[in-house]
Amino acid sequence: MEFKNKQDDYQDFVNKIKDCKLCRLCEKRTQVVPGYGNLDADLMFVGEGPGEQEDELGIPFVGRAGQLLDKIFKAADLSREKDMYITNIVKCRPPENRDPEKDEIEECKSYLYYQIELIKPKVIVPLGNYSMRFFLDTTLGITKTRGTINDWNGIKIIPMYHPSYVLRNQSKKVKGETWQDILIVKKMIMNK
Ligand code: URA
Repeated sequence: MEFKNKQDDYQDFVNKIKDCKLCRLCEKRTQVVPGYGNLDADLMFVGEGPGEQEDELGIPFVGRAGQLLDKIFKAADLSREKDMYITNIVKCRPPENRDPEKDEIEECKSYLYYQIELIKPKVIVPLGNYSMRFFLDTTLGITKTRGTINDWNGIKIIPMYHPSYVLRNQSKKVKGETWQDILIVKKMIMNK
């Protein structure tokens, strides 16, 4: 796909999806949460779906999980604004923060594909099982795939724990693995 002007094309995309009614998630959302960050970044983070605060503000990862992500980014000297673009596999909040359903992910996937084509990241970090399985055809869970470097259409996929999982499992092991993984990600974008 050829893009004329990234910013304009992105704005057209945002305008187009704000009235999306492709799946039932449109019924209870406050607003669509397309994504946030630098359209020229080499790094993309992909979460699961917006939560309550994201749905209110229209920005991904601004709630408790997002605050933990910000701490991790800060410790690794990564800037949300400069170094990355962040989005989710579904762009509307699943009610009561339930997991996104298969058909909802299916209906929403062309939006994520478009974002990847426009931004052209070198590294994508799926956060948690749902996002990891969007990219990797595996029955393995995130505890086995985290920190591994995989290829997806020429893009490196490095899964990490979802920050909500880290919040629920504040063991030394989980925290240590998360730190290891963000350092792998950082190294990959520096050596791209
Ligand atoms: N959890 C996600 O997966 N995405 C968000 O945007 C917020 C919480």
